[in-house]
Amino acid sequence: MDKVVTCVAPVNIATIKYWGKRDEHLILPLNDSVSLTLDCDQMHAKTSVIAGPFIDEDSVWLNGQIMSIETNERLKKCFHLIRNLIKIRKGENSQESKWNIRVCSENNFPTAAGLASSAAGYACLVYTLANAFGLLDEDLPSIARQGSGSACRSIYGGFVHWKAGIDELGSDSTAIQIAADTHWPEMRIIILVVNDSQKKTSSTVGMKQAVETSELLKYRVQKCVPERTKGIIQAITDKNFEKFAEITMRDSNQFHAVCLDTYPPCVYLNQVSHDIISFVHDYNKAVGKIKVSYTFDAGPNAFLFIQQNDLNLFMSELVNVFPSEQPNSSYLRGIVSTLPYEVKPF
Ligand code: ADP
Ligand code: DP6
Ligand code: CO
Repeated sequence: MDKVVTCVAPVNIATIKYWGKRDEHLILPLNDSVSLTLDCDQMHAKTSVIAGPFIDEDSVWLNGQIMSIETNERLKKCFHLIRNLIKIRKGENSQESKWNIRVCSENNFPTAAGLASSAAGYACLVYTLANAFGLLDEDLPSIARQGSGSACRSIYGGFVHWKAGIDELGSDSTAIQIAADTHWPEMRIIILVVNDSQKKTSSTVGMKQAVETSELLKYRVQKCVPERTKGIIQAITDKNFEKFAEITMRDSNQFHAVCLDTYPPCVYLNQVSHDIISFVHDYNKAVGKIKVSYTFDAGPNAFLFIQQNDLNLFMSELVNVFPSEQPNSSYLRGIVSTLPYEVKPF
């Protein structure tokens, strides 16, 4: 390989949350999840790869800092799975499988702050490596999944369903596209950055503690998620915003209830997050219809869903109540995103 290969991959935002693994090593989830992938031009990871006999060792740089591959099982796993694929495709003794690889990645938004950086990051890493070695028709979601579960969904654009599957080895735990972004072009996401610092408990650790200690998680997985998954896929298919929005809010609320049911509790939302939740419900009540919905990942930052026609009115109310970038206080920054897209060569 005599040139650097660079790709970008967007974040995806789950409306039915993945929270809990049945297999930590293979990163197999306890429940299905559903998400929307943002546009590549918005929040994304950009990753460059170069490989060859002239590279002296594997290395990965993230946001200008070197990462330790030795102590990072997921990075090692992704490198290993890509090299295996090279051998399968190009022969057991292929030179390319022995090359060292240098990776350099940057996120254009806060990392590890509950804004889905691991999803964009690992989708981009795997996609860029695959691109660099000409492996594009292979099963990239399952490799990305083994970097970070949510990353398997960022391989696809539009509306994506990650099926948990039942196979012990994970052969049926895959992401599929429910609908392309063009299916619901009026859909918008507003991202409100409440706090962009790194969260105290990573998603990986938070969900492991939930599996070990939360009774509510068991109930959620068995009794709530299957029905909700069906419901939201139907709502997406029908472009039924009210149904989509209600399921999204209920699932976010339940996910954070599970976090509180974890022992010791995992608190991701803060007072501003709760103020946003109240504001959305008050707004919907005032207009007499569900026009906007919220969801929060493992962090205090809000993702709001709204349709284009309702956007201007809502934004004018929002900026009144939550002025942007106030010095020395929690602040909010809105990014209005169009829906999405697939990872693409840059
Ligand atoms: P988030 O809510 O941002 O997804 P997580 O706790 O799930 O936070 O994951 C954050 C971790 O994901 C980072 O500490 C880093 O190890 C990994 N990560 C984030 N961005 C990238 C990237 N562009 N390339 C490789 N790994 C990344
Ligand atoms: C709250 O995919 O970051 O964002 O698989 O351990 O890397 P690991 O966790 P991660 O978890 C995402 C949790 C979530 C919900 C979601 O994206 O579905
Ligand atoms: Co993550």
